[in-house]
Amino acid sequence: MDPGKIDFYNLGFNFIETKEMYVADYKNGSWSKGKMEPFGPFEISPGAGVLNYGQGIFEGMKALEAKNGDLVLFRPVENAKRFNESAKRMLMPTYDEDEFLNAVKNVVKTNKEYIPPYDSGGALYIRPVMVANGPVLGVAPADEYKLIIFTVPVGPYFPEGFNAIDLEISREYTRAAPGGSGFAKTCCNYAPTMKPAKETKAKGYAQIIYLDASELEYIDEVGTANFFAVIEGKLATPQLKGTILPGITRKSVLKIAEEKLGMETEERDISYKELFNKSCSEAFCTGTAAVITPIGSVTLNEEKRVFNDGEPGEITVKLYDLLTGIQRKEIEDEFGWVVDV
Ligand SMILES: Cc1ncc(COP(=O)(O)O)c(C=O)c1O
Repeated sequence: MDPGKIDFYNLGFNFIETKEMYVADYKNGSWSKGKMEPFGPFEISPGAGVLNYGQGIFEGMKALEAKNGDLVLFRPVENAKRFNESAKRMLMPTYDEDEFLNAVKNVVKTNKEYIPPYDSGGALYIRPVMVANGPVLGVAPADEYKLIIFTVPVGPYFPEGFNAIDLEISREYTRAAPGGSGFAKTCCNYAPTMKPAKETKAKGYAQIIYLDASELEYIDEVGTANFFAVIEGKLATPQLKGTILPGITRKSVLKIAEEKLGMETEERDISYKELFNKSCSEAFCTGTAAVITPIGSVTLNEEKRVFNDGEPGEITVKLYDLLTGIQRKEIEDEFGWVVDV
């Protein structure tokens, strides 16, 4: 799409085609030298591993225009590392971290007319994806893979923006089971979440809070974001047990809460029942796309708990201001998280 035709001040989280993508191919046991190509389709065998058995992984990151006009990435090496952790779980080849970072920077530079301006609050979403394009018949890893990195200009993930969202706790659907692939960012974790998301949206909720698959009691995560709650004044988030995506925003928020707000943090099992107690005063979710999104209420069947009259809580707001301030170079980046493109 012609960047001149994009209304950067009213973007949602929808696909928009940009100019170029990065492509590298894995054949005969090694990666080709990656290169930039015009964005567009490619041929794929109907026997491709990704089409038949879902052998595919992806990442999600953002390039932002900082307050001073710099183009910046947030902790991109963490995405490179997680991409490789996902690859290992899916028996796919890993990709050199330095090359990943260079490729991401190249894609951003080449598509820089699509980066929403600082004052719009938008970002250039970066989507690295790796698929098994080699043919297979039995359920086994393919011999050939394709890595693509493309970009899309985006606004807020939830149309509510920084306004609080209403969530439904599901005791019907689960997302990931112990020993499965919940910690990996693999395509096959996401397709099964579309039906529950559609059903909950039809009831007026923004997303589902998934509980653990064994006991249907402890919170795992929120669709495509990690979950946090302030309980007895401490910032609590579900511990990583292999069923939850280890969010980079999650890790950053824990650090900011400890170091900048002096809060005690806990990574532990959080029963959904705790959300209905007075001791739980705020809740929010985090992610590259969701940033920090306040949770206004949670509902399980007929029982509803509203937090803070449906307004963002005090700690949620503080964490949002600190995180986005660091990301946009409005405040000092004392942790060394922001990387210039
Ligand atoms: C299932 C899931 N949980 C959590 C997150 C948040 O992770 P991050 O903060 O690294 O974007 C994501 C991705 O954005 C996700 O897909």
